[in-house]
Amino acid sequence: MAIILGVESTAHTFGVGIVKNGKILVNVKDTYTTEKGGIIPIEAARHHEQKKYGVYEEALRQSGTKERDIDAIAFSQGPGLAPCLLVGMRFTKEIAEKLRVPIIPVNHCIAHIEIGRVTGAKDPVMLYASGANTQIIAYAAGKFRIFGETLDVGVGNFIDSFARYAGIGFPGGPRIQEMAEKGHALIDLPYKVKGMDVAFSGILTNLKQKIESGKYNVNDLAYSLQEVVFAMLVETAERAMAHTGKKELLLGGGVGCNKRLQEMCEIMCRERGAKFFVPSNDLLTDNGSMIAYTGEIMFKSGISEKINGLDIKPRQRTDEVEVSWR
Ligand code: ATP
Ligand code: FE2
Repeated sequence: MAIILGVESTAHTFGVGIVKNGKILVNVKDTYTTEKGGIIPIEAARHHEQKKYGVYEEALRQSGTKERDIDAIAFSQGPGLAPCLLVGMRFTKEIAEKLRVPIIPVNHCIAHIEIGRVTGAKDPVMLYASGANTQIIAYAAGKFRIFGETLDVGVGNFIDSFARYAGIGFPGGPRIQEMAEKGHALIDLPYKVKGMDVAFSGILTNLKQKIESGKYNVNDLAYSLQEVVFAMLVETAERAMAHTGKKELLLGGGVGCNKRLQEMCEIMCRERGAKFFVPSNDLLTDNGSMIAYTGEIMFKSGISEKINGLDIKPRQRTDEVEVSWR
């Protein structure tokens, strides 16, 4: 029996989740948003600083967990924005010291993958589509291997930038989805798949010019953006499935909340006799539960660290991590 608390703070969200034997007891989060413009790292860190105790206490209260019942604390070690990561790590050290429990450093991207286990997916190809990352991943021989990825920005950041040009604040994804549902004309946009990789910056420039020209309906642009960019993601994911022979697709990361992307994945899987899995929205966007959930799996396999010498890893890559727990 283990109770693991997980702390998430890599970017816009400060979250605390508690997991007991693979069961999520609570998932509390507070997200930094803007009316206009993108994330300013220092402001997001300030947000986390202000909210951390409140989120933590709310998680304990809602789940009826006593501090003395906590066996270990997992935290998001990276990748992410350094000022935000520091708030999470310092908070984790403070609580771990007070409770005299070990710390489990968790890679944020791997947590986005591992939380997919709640869906029942066993050995999937994973389409990880989030703010800063876009990767096609599958597990093989001790590591999560990257089969394809974005050559520039993450698909979420790309959508958020488009939203910013359209005068919408952060996060742009949910609003763009609403606008896309109102659009219907498919406007020609560049389609950028290079081998197994994708690229978004050229499409963004093209969209920016189209907005500035004033000749296009913004809902139609949002609709076309989704159709084209999600087709790029589904195409590369399908190719990875064909290559690896895997029969499951797992969608993860915040952009995975998008209903049209889910639908396109579903259709592709149906057509090739594969199964499609996607966690609920509260587990797709950044949250502490995915950190606690992954932390518990790692803890049970014997992974934990002492406070001394522990540091953040703002640039850690998915395929750098030795996955000894699978
Ligand atoms: P990373 O995991 O790469 O570090 P992140 O932690 O910033 O990035 P997540 O919290 O996983 O990312 O996802 C946030 C992103 O998801 C934002 O870019 C947001 O616009 C996008 N998003 C959320 N909901 C939707 C939606 N319905 N459609 C499209 N994008 C969405
Ligand atoms: Fe994330």
